[in-house]
Amino acid sequence: MKIWFNGGLCEESQARVSVIDHGFLYGDGVYETLRVHRGRPLFLREHLARLRSSCRLIRLPLPWPGSLLARRARKTLLANRLEEAVLRMNVSRGPGPVGFDTRDCKTPTLVMMERPLPDYPPALFKQGVTAAVVKTRRNHPLCLPPEAKSTNCLNGILAKQEAVRLGAFEGILLNLSGFVAEGTVSNVFAVRAGRLLTPHRSCGLLAGVTRNVIIRLARKEGIVVREVEMTLSEFARSSEVFLTNSLFGVMPVTKFAVIVSGAKQSRRVGDGKVGPVAKLLAERYRRAIGVFF
Ligand SMILES: Cc1ncc(COP(=O)(O)O)c(C=O)c1O
Repeated sequence: MKIWFNGGLCEESQARVSVIDHGFLYGDGVYETLRVHRGRPLFLREHLARLRSSCRLIRLPLPWPGSLLARRARKTLLANRLEEAVLRMNVSRGPGPVGFDTRDCKTPTLVMMERPLPDYPPALFKQGVTAAVVKTRRNHPLCLPPEAKSTNCLNGILAKQEAVRLGAFEGILLNLSGFVAEGTVSNVFAVRAGRLLTPHRSCGLLAGVTRNVIIRLARKEGIVVREVEMTLSEFARSSEVFLTNSLFGVMPVTKFAVIVSGAKQSRRVGDGKVGPVAKLLAERYRRAIGVFF
């Protein structure tokens, strides 16, 4: 696979990041994950805008204009010729003296890499998945802004480990106040009394590109959408739950896994079947991006 590494394309085996790159040392960097469909990146403009805003949030000066990054992304895709893929853009602080002072990190490291789209069997979308409500809480925005898609991912990694232990597809994190925040790599939606609810940005989350598209599509369908603070018990009483991200689009959740008094318990979401709102929005989303499967 060809990688865009700083100034040009190279083989993956030739791309070498310095051991004093602050991305390697401290997870000091930002990234974007885009879906590639028929060889073209989806929502490129939105992802580039978020990359820039993530950089701003961690005070990492991004020296390249969006148009240049877009050209480099396209060159990477052309070099690999994958039809259905994932493109990752990664910007790290770059090499500098060991220590937290970032002032002497003069040149950020840019990497763009592609891999085939993971296999999401159609049965997952038809039957829905299990999501685990994990003990790990989303870090507080005053500690590390969840709005920055940063390469400092330990908060999500710890949550994912819990979800894997519970046999779940995704882990759902609450914030420190006990409100639902988001999944480890996805946003969360719930349906209650015919309304589509999603955690408010103030709950501490990454406002996904897919989340924004789904909110728009739902409103176009006349569905009332509210960004709310949702307690776990309100969330558990939803008639439908689904997750969104750039790779799987809309993923229905039909079961929750939770640990109660040290034991794993499984609970149905609504009637345990994929609900009408998730079905409708999944179909509208696929239509919007031109993917039919
Ligand atoms: C923490 C987190 N929240 C939400 C999302 C969904 O974002 P998007 O729809 O832009 O893929 C992601 C994506 O990876 C994520 O890492």
